[in-house]
Amino acid sequence: MQVITDTEELRELHDTWRHHDEHVAIVPTMGNLHSGHLSLVELAAEHAERVVVTVFVNPTQFGEGEDFEDYPRTLDRDTRRLKTLRADVVFAPSADTLYPFGIDNATTVSVPGLTQNFCGASRPGHFDGVTTVVARLFALVQPDVAVFGQKDYQQQLVIRHMTADLNFPIRVITAPTVREGDGLAMSSRNQYLGDEEREIAPLLYATIEHVGKELENGKRNFAVLESDAVARLEAAGFTPDYVAIRRAHNLTVPDRDCDEIVVLVAAQLGKARLIDNVVVTI
Ligand code: PAJ
Repeated sequence: MQVITDTEELRELHDTWRHHDEHVAIVPTMGNLHSGHLSLVELAAEHAERVVVTVFVNPTQFGEGEDFEDYPRTLDRDTRRLKTLRADVVFAPSADTLYPFGIDNATTVSVPGLTQNFCGASRPGHFDGVTTVVARLFALVQPDVAVFGQKDYQQQLVIRHMTADLNFPIRVITAPTVREGDGLAMSSRNQYLGDEEREIAPLLYATIEHVGKELENGKRNFAVLESDAVARLEAAGFTPDYVAIRRAHNLTVPDRDCDEIVVLVAAQLGKARLIDNVVVTI
């Protein structure tokens, strides 16, 4: 496995792979890899002969006062973990490589609609940063397949929209959320939790799982289910941002007989902003 920071080197390797008719999968990450990220790499290897894992803490997707400076940067450890898997390249570019004209002069990619609510509303500009950097990574790596996690549900929908709308010849695959034994979705931000908060944190998943069960059991009063879930989280010590029951494919408000539903949640717990979701068929 090679660690590459330079685009020229990446291009040469890509040419060799193409020459041998090998397909390429990309797994974009911000590093500090945990088992959730590694499961994406394993899935990528099932869909292409070559796997490129990108590691870049993207400044343009962090808002003012967010954790860009504090975000854990652990490239050596990440590289060691990836060596145990079937990854061919870790592409870890500098900001100058990814934004050659500088961040202020960068061409941006922005998906309307889908980005307006939920994390897009709470973190203005966040999804523009994500689509802008992912479009750049797609252009540099030129993958056939791209793997994203269901954990960031809105993000994978936004990327699917961008990929379809810009006609990128890339198949987007969404990988299931990997959880700790107590149900907490793995996240680099879990390490911001103190001991007591870590005890409470699994209630986030338990709460939306309960909403999912209620929906499967025929409950259809979406507003009540949402507000009960918010109250339950508040009582446990979270500061909920939203609990929302939406159509899984486009995040619009569902009919009572809509089939694929996603229950989305975001909540602050101490220093950590946690998100999670479950998809149910009703
Ligand atoms: P990051 O938070 O590092 O996540 C990288 C990928 O790992 C995303 O697709 C995310 O959904 C997935 N992931 C995170 N936790 C997971 C878990 N517990 N189970 C399964 N997959 C999980 O998401 C980003 O980085 C950035 O926004 C990025 C797309 C790289 C653009 O900068």
